[in-house]
Amino acid sequence: MENNRLLITLFGATGDLASRKLYPAIYRLYKYGHISNHFSLIGTGRSKWDDNKIREVVLESIKDEIDDKEHAHEFISHFYYLIHDVNDADDYSSLKELAEKLDHQYDIQGNRIYYISLAPNLFPIITHNLKQQNVLTEQGFNRLIIEKPFGHDQASAAELQNQLEKSFDEEQIYRIDHYLGKYMVQNIKTLRFNNPLFESIWDNQHIDHIQITLDEEVGVEDRAEYYDTSGVLKDMIQNHMLQLVALLTMEKPENFDAEGIHQNKLEVLSKIQKFDSIEALNENTVFGQYDTDKDNTVLAYRDEEDIDPESMTPTYFAAKILIDSKRWEDVPIYIRSGKRVAKKATHIVVAFKAASNGNIENHLKIEIAPKQGYELHLKQNNTDYDDGLMSVPLSYYLNREDEKSLAGDYERLIYDCIIGQRENFTHYEEVDASWEFIDHILKLADKATPPIYPNYASYSIGPKEADSLLEKDGRYWYD
Ligand code: BG6
Repeated sequence: MENNRLLITLFGATGDLASRKLYPAIYRLYKYGHISNHFSLIGTGRSKWDDNKIREVVLESIKDEIDDKEHAHEFISHFYYLIHDVNDADDYSSLKELAEKLDHQYDIQGNRIYYISLAPNLFPIITHNLKQQNVLTEQGFNRLIIEKPFGHDQASAAELQNQLEKSFDEEQIYRIDHYLGKYMVQNIKTLRFNNPLFESIWDNQHIDHIQITLDEEVGVEDRAEYYDTSGVLKDMIQNHMLQLVALLTMEKPENFDAEGIHQNKLEVLSKIQKFDSIEALNENTVFGQYDTDKDNTVLAYRDEEDIDPESMTPTYFAAKILIDSKRWEDVPIYIRSGKRVAKKATHIVVAFKAASNGNIENHLKIEIAPKQGYELHLKQNNTDYDDGLMSVPLSYYLNREDEKSLAGDYERLIYDCIIGQRENFTHYEEVDASWEFIDHILKLADKATPPIYPNYASYSIGPKEADSLLEKDGRYWYD
């Protein structure tokens, strides 16, 4: 297979993401035969590493995945290291030279993936030089992988796109949103469109509301500098959350290819209703920031290292949103995401109306993490003498063995990029529409009376106002 021939250039090879996620993902692809011996990887960085050093690091990072030592050693022999300053045009000549040498050595025939695992301000510098210094190949493919943040608002995202487009076409840009690589997230489309049972009732006649929870137990960890300028809206809502909203609500694509899916996601993203006043914002959203826990065992957000002691950056956000379309008229989507809440919980609940009385009788829970699977809650008779009803779950969860063999987020996405499949990547227009929604919230929030920070205890369920958001509609969050 032509796609099996591949040279990956990894900018940021000495970084944390590379050894935690990328090397193990690439190794698994090699182990399972999705990457052949016509493969090589050039890791670049400013550190004075050499080929031996990168091979050592890669070997260490894949140690839990190795079943065949010899095969693993064969794998690491495909790794090379180049000391490289991304700002120095001359360094791209050395890169080109090494790439051509390896291309010849492994008979790669020009296929290239450029993976930038560095700060976003470096993306345009690198892409510009790749093109200017003729590192891009004439024969084979040239694909670019980048990761968020794609800008810090709509205008800066547009500016970034403008720069990138000078060297790469949109079809060559693979923007990773790692949520789109998650097994259960990829199953949303399948669940909706391959099960007539659901497809026929996926609308406002049958669905009462949807909930999406992306909660984390961890705090800001060691990312203070990035996080304090982002906050939860830019870190989790603009990307992961809105992508989930889009997958859950998009119309059925005529063609299930990248373009068909992208167009339909874009359509719903641009139909998310904006809050038209500060009152509407206050009514429908909740911002929060974590405090210490009740026993004072952890730091409040503002006391974390390198966080501004007066920071107003939200670490929690919940909202009730609506989509302006016939299918979703009057179906609220409640979203929430917070750091340092009681437990890691990434899940979606679709609550169905009862045919006769408008109550919620059934719900479907899609669990993305920590467990992966579904629960469909149905009504049946009590087992007691009385004639009451009880709710019983029909459930399917992956077991430990399944989970172990399951491809990880990065593994799936890198594989997709190798085979040129773009449907699980975010198109620029989706990024743009998502920023538009987030920008308008942040602009309004700037003018609103600031809520009192910090306002929820670490390891609690979040600010109590997030419960009121649903309670005032006679609903409640499902755990
Ligand atoms: C990242 C955010 O995109 O997603 C992090 O930058 C967050 O702040 C992470 O912790 C959550 O990902 P996951 O896969 O653990 O839910």
